[in-house]
Amino acid sequence: MYSSLALLGLTAFQGAHAWGNLGHETVALVATNYVKTATKTWAQDILGDTSKDYLANVATWADSYRYNSAGKFSAPYHFIDAQDNPPSSCNVDYDRDCTNGGCIVAAIANYTNRVQSTSLSDTQVDYALRFIIHFLGDITQPLHDESYDLGGNDIDVTFNGDDTNLHASWDTAIPEQLVGGYSLSDAQDWANDLIKEIDSGSYKSQKSSWVSGLDITDAKGSAMGWATDANAFVCSVVAPNGWDGLENAELYPDYYNGVVDTVSLQIAKGGYRLAKWLDAIAAQASSKKVRRDEGDAVEDEVEQDLSGRTLLPAKKPLTAIQRRRAAIGFGCGDHSH
Ligand SMILES: *[C@@H]1O[C@H](CO)[C@@H](O)[C@H](O)[C@H]1NC(C)=O
Ligand SMILES: [Zn+2]
Repeated sequence: MYSSLALLGLTAFQGAHAWGNLGHETVALVATNYVKTATKTWAQDILGDTSKDYLANVATWADSYRYNSAGKFSAPYHFIDAQDNPPSSCNVDYDRDCTNGGCIVAAIANYTNRVQSTSLSDTQVDYALRFIIHFLGDITQPLHDESYDLGGNDIDVTFNGDDTNLHASWDTAIPEQLVGGYSLSDAQDWANDLIKEIDSGSYKSQKSSWVSGLDITDAKGSAMGWATDANAFVCSVVAPNGWDGLENAELYPDYYNGVVDTVSLQIAKGGYRLAKWLDAIAAQASSKKVRRDEGDAVEDEVEQDLSGRTLLPAKKPLTAIQRRRAAIGFGCGDHSH
């Protein structure tokens, strides 16, 4: 068990997955800064939350939900198991890496469709939006786009003397070391710094590349682009010398110093993209509403496959690592739990 969790006062299960609370809330707060007013109204209405933190308030919901019996089915939606050999070869192949039980790319496409549905219950539409807010964060964490050792959960490391693993360090220890806290106001401080970089600093010239290829009519293709982008960092930054040497390594300060800028970049990118993605969904939803009000049958294509089944690759035998994920209930596999 690592100390950051004790400090957070969270259960291990809530804290150990995905970007931790700090990362997810920061992604949400960056997005909050950039969404259009109409998008804000649309999202606040679905979420039933008119507070200024309406996105951040639900940013980690999906990590709790996956541990409810009702939400267990969604556990594989937090990642895609790319099969890499860093530093020489990293890539995401949808048919190879997404399983028939789902993956983050299929989930983003599925919930982008479902959030626009007019036939689902309010709760299901609300859940769809919560999933989108969460998964657009997760997908930017390189180890959520990686199968090796359960996305690094099985690579034991120490961070500043505390026992943890590589995946959890990326999710939690590294962001918390950088920011010096983990509260919502720490997330807001971090978001403010990132927003400044996006508006006028080091991210200004690259932000358009973060959303290039973003196409609301091809959610799966868009999400594949984001997964591929994050997965490339497995080769260049997460394991630039391969996996060897990481097991039992102390990550602070040398490894930390080599990766922390990438962590900030990915959080900023996730937030900026989330804003543009929500803008695109809200715009599409409102144009459909106008056409519907005019009597057109416009929702058909959205309602066609609310199960997302047609998105999934054909059933194929699971790889060894996928069998292990399934055996442990698609949890992160952190054996300290
Ligand atoms: C789409 O979402 C529904 C509701 O959460 C779920 O039952 C279904 O399995 C999802 N499909 C995919 C491909 O993720
Ligand atoms: Zn997650």
